[in-house]
Amino acid sequence: MMQIGVLGGGTMGSGIAQVAAQNGHKVVLVDLNKDVLHNSKVKLAKIMARLVEKERINEEHSNEAQSNIVYSQEINDFKNCEIVIEAIVENIDIKTKVFKQLESATPKECILASNTSSLSIASIGAALENPEKIIGVHFFNPAPLMPLVEIIPAVQTSEKTLETTKALIDSWGKVTVVCKDTPGFIVNRVARPFYGEALRIYEEGIADFATIDWAMTSLGGFRMGPFTLMDYIGNDVNYTVTETVFKSFYYDPRYKPSFTQKRHAEAGYLGRKSGRGFFDYAEEATNPKPIEDPIIGKKIKDRILMMLINEAVDAVFLNIGSKKAIDLAMTKGVNYPKGLLAWADEIGLETVLENLDSMFHEYGEDRYRPSPLMRRMVLNNEKFFS
Ligand code: NAI
Repeated sequence: MMQIGVLGGGTMGSGIAQVAAQNGHKVVLVDLNKDVLHNSKVKLAKIMARLVEKERINEEHSNEAQSNIVYSQEINDFKNCEIVIEAIVENIDIKTKVFKQLESATPKECILASNTSSLSIASIGAALENPEKIIGVHFFNPAPLMPLVEIIPAVQTSEKTLETTKALIDSWGKVTVVCKDTPGFIVNRVARPFYGEALRIYEEGIADFATIDWAMTSLGGFRMGPFTLMDYIGNDVNYTVTETVFKSFYYDPRYKPSFTQKRHAEAGYLGRKSGRGFFDYAEEATNPKPIEDPIIGKKIKDRILMMLINEAVDAVFLNIGSKKAIDLAMTKGVNYPKGLLAWADEIGLETVLENLDSMFHEYGEDRYRPSPLMRRMVLNNEKFFS
């Protein structure tokens, strides 16, 4: 059993430590802040008690998992670890400094992994003397519940680092997908139009928030509509992710952020956490009801879905991940009702291409340009999965 180190005991670090401990590993969880460590321990005890109560696990498993974690403020306690997973603040200067320290505090062979959502793994690895042991492992929140983990080898990563890391996380019962070290990896890249196109439809005055959400849930089968989801994630956080992806892609217009979301964030309408976002969460609040017109609803659903499919196809085109990885990422990382490529097969790629071409001609914006792979596949009468 590998000994696991986790650096950062916040939301993600605590969740990752729990997963490793429940899978029988000895875990060292390090955070600079003593209170954070205390809270993490108390929270785990509560979670375990609830799982025992619901008879998902027995008392023995609960005790073992809890005793598997050692809490520490001292990074030298990683001295016997075979892998350390970092989940501290999302800041490249801090991360590179910390990775240098991690390299000195751990054995030579120890794999150093980052849970970053937006920084390049190559840039973090550049801080190391032996950068072949850097890798990205991107968990989703909450880590114990969400099955997906994106595994991101950087240009410097060795085959051995990739194999060992993937085998370890697979052994935790997670669904792993290997993806290229590019902005947003798979999920945060392919999901952009779910928010961006919904905001654009609203800005064009085609429908209000409630109607767009209704179209995506009732007609599209998504668990949450885009505006409810943005309110849940937080408009500040979601806007920042979009802006980071947009900048990282050298201002590709497909990822352009929306003023509507920016203004909501600026106004403090952050979503659930501030009591108001696109919707009002005050107890006495009444939110507008959707206008359930099936024709408009279908148009909205189709437009967002075509944009999502285009993004998934382009990710295949640019080898961001395999076809299977890209479909798994969206179903297991963000609960999409179907993989976007399988969905494209079902609708027919020709229909998707016609829809995108028609928007591209109408708007004359690069945002709507179909992926070259889609055009090529339609010409050759190909499907993603036979
Ligand atoms: P958080 O703010 O809940 O936790 C970060 C923790 O790191 C804090 O407890 C802080 O005390 C500690 N810390 C900061 N600098 C440190 C250092 N030098 N040494 C030791 N501990 C230090 O943050 P969260 O949300 O857990 O995010 C952590 C990382 O995971 C970030 O890189 C974030 O982008 C990424 N991530 C976050 C997701 C989310 O939904 N929150 C999802 C996937 C990735």
